[in-house]
Amino acid sequence: DGDAYKYYSNGEWKKSSSGKTVAIVNPTTRKTQYKVQACTQEEVNNVMELAKSAQKTWAKTPLWKRAELLHKAAAILKEHKAPIAECLIKEIAKPAKDSVTEVVRSGDLISYTAEEGVRILGEGKFLVSDSFPGNERTKYCLTSKIPLGVVLAIPPFNYPVNLAVSKIGPALIAGNSLVLKPPTQGAVSCLHMVHCFHLAGFPKGLISCVTGKGSEIGDFLTMHPGVNCISFTGGDTGISISKKAGMIPLQMELGGKDACIVLEDADLDLVAANIIKGGFSYSGQRCTAIKVVLVMESVADALVEKVKARVAKLRIGPPEDDCDITPVVTESSANFIEGLVMDAKDKGATFCQQYKREGNLIWPLLLDNVRPDMRIAWEEPFGPILPVIRINSVEEGIHHCNASNFGLQGCVFTKDINKAMLISDAMETGTVQINSAPARGPDHFPFQGLKDSGIGSQGITNSIDMMTKVKTTVINLP
Ligand code: G3H
Repeated sequence: DGDAYKYYSNGEWKKSSSGKTVAIVNPTTRKTQYKVQACTQEEVNNVMELAKSAQKTWAKTPLWKRAELLHKAAAILKEHKAPIAECLIKEIAKPAKDSVTEVVRSGDLISYTAEEGVRILGEGKFLVSDSFPGNERTKYCLTSKIPLGVVLAIPPFNYPVNLAVSKIGPALIAGNSLVLKPPTQGAVSCLHMVHCFHLAGFPKGLISCVTGKGSEIGDFLTMHPGVNCISFTGGDTGISISKKAGMIPLQMELGGKDACIVLEDADLDLVAANIIKGGFSYSGQRCTAIKVVLVMESVADALVEKVKARVAKLRIGPPEDDCDITPVVTESSANFIEGLVMDAKDKGATFCQQYKREGNLIWPLLLDNVRPDMRIAWEEPFGPILPVIRINSVEEGIHHCNASNFGLQGCVFTKDINKAMLISDAMETGTVQINSAPARGPDHFPFQGLKDSGIGSQGITNSIDMMTKVKTTVINLP
């Protein structure tokens, strides 16, 4: 397959010895858009060896030099925003403007990571022994942060560039090497992003990017003895990875069912605007999308009307035209979403719009009067379908939110800050947004999920910390 994109190993672009490729289907045209190499286990072994030896030298490279290279990569990435955005449009049907934003945001993330890294890794601690009972001042303890070794980064299809660099940047600044396994949809965007790191001039072998079938190299990568840390964003696969992985630090972000609790005193126009942004941007294919609205009965009719009016204004169509609602990533995803819609229909949900689908394109749909026996009340559609559950008390809303197996983010709308704080404390989620839709950014904020939503905390500072371990040297005085 001469036209397939090559994978990246030892600072070079290579064809896989498998002779096989993986097709990437454009969600809009449903035709093969690109092909990437189907790498073999032997090629993975090779990449791991290279990563291990490159890391040793990289760990000794001065911090400021590591930062300098990251700044360079960030600048190059931003220069390449147009062609990378084009890949995002074709591979994952992300609207045109959002595709450019993803690349620019990624450049900013890398630069911030470089700056944060030189600060926090440039400092250590100094402890003396006589603060602990029974000790004299005879021991001086120096602490510093050292790299873990080889970090395996597995980003999801919905932010193949941004959620790759949010792992690559922290790993590299901390002195680790990096093996990237892109998602199938988004693989070419990832390869193009890696090309920017290549142009920045990082040492050979330090960064690798292997593409291929999960069935062939997925478990092989995550269970590889050469891997010292896994940073994964995606779906349930993360749960099985965490069961199979060795005794290494894991960072996982695995989806959510973010609730939007609306009290009687909320500014309903603000809520409606945030429901549109939170529920329907990128057609609901965000882990932090609003995935259930829990609204007090007394304001529910008014809110639903306002949201309906805004849904009617959403532009539906191809990502090239920068439409708001674009085709969902795969046909199987569209089928899954349709299954949730049909279940809600059978069980009597109120359809605020007519259900409509053409290929992978699903029209935005607000489902009112959803009840707990419907799948949509609990499951994550990852599509432009939003359920509304009417509640009669705040407790009822909190109870629904906490009964979820997920615990990523949530949001509450009210003018009463005291109530908002109490609700925030009561919600079992990693983050609660007061008077705004859930979101991961700005990218230096801590980002974490409770329960099935993940392990560990992300955000630039937390990721740098997570990709290091503490090393101490104790000076014993005579
Ligand atoms: O899909 C999961 C992402 O981490 C969400 O990021 O809040 O910037 O859309 P976002």
